Amino acid sequence: MGKKIFVACDTNSINEVKKIIINTRTRKLKIGYKFGLEFINSKNGRSFISKLKKKIIFADLKLNDIPNTCISTVKAIKDLKVNYLTVHISSGLEALRGVKKVSGKTKIVGVTTLTSFNNKNLKQIGYTRSVKSLVIQQAKLASKAKLDAVVCSPHEVPYVKKIFKKEIITPGIRLSGDKAKDQKRITTPKKAFKNGATSIVIGRSITKGNIKKNIQKLINSLN
Ligand code: C5P
Repeated sequence: MGKKIFVACDTNSINEVKKIIINTRTRKLKIGYKFGLEFINSKNGRSFISKLKKKIIFADLKLNDIPNTCISTVKAIKDLKVNYLTVHISSGLEALRGVKKVSGKTKIVGVTTLTSFNNKNLKQIGYTRSVKSLVIQQAKLASKAKLDAVVCSPHEVPYVKKIFKKEIITPGIRLSGDKAKDQKRITTPKKAFKNGATSIVIGRSITKGNIKKNIQKLINSLN
């Protein structure tokens, strides 16, 4: 499977993305680029992605809708030929299976409970179970729907990997010393891989400040 780093290109600026791509170039890491709702919905974002060549592309659409809408969306972005596409596992088994059926070569990534949630925030939206028990349930569903990967917090990998045997991707990563900001369940890259993540998603710790220096810091931290 090979450890991968997905750099979250959370911006609406094409110049910013170009800057990220140029400055993250390295032979020492396998790097992919993650584009979320912000960039894909920006004026020229979609067309920029369609022109990227020989890059690992991760479309973080976090689909969360009825099966028909999820399936139609997967068909609608076929031309982008993305390598990874995210769907919330909470969309349900029927939606997950439906998406998997039409996804072709694109790997379908099931998103468990967002890393910005803790038990208290979960209660606020009416979920009475703990993050852990919810994530375990979601990992089982992802496995049942034969998804290609799941996204979970680095702290959840130890029990997710017992249930879900394919790729495990973890966001909520900070280079040591960086602030948590809005994330609740975070750790360092090294610890995430040690826990059993196969890839990590890292945004602000790389893209804010001097990108080249941050990449070097990441490489050093993994040694
Ligand atoms: O800047 P930071 O490293 O916190 O960015 C994390 C990225 O991972 C963001 O693009 C966010 O949308 C994404 N993500 C997350 N938690 C999830 C799924 C995706 O933080 N459960």
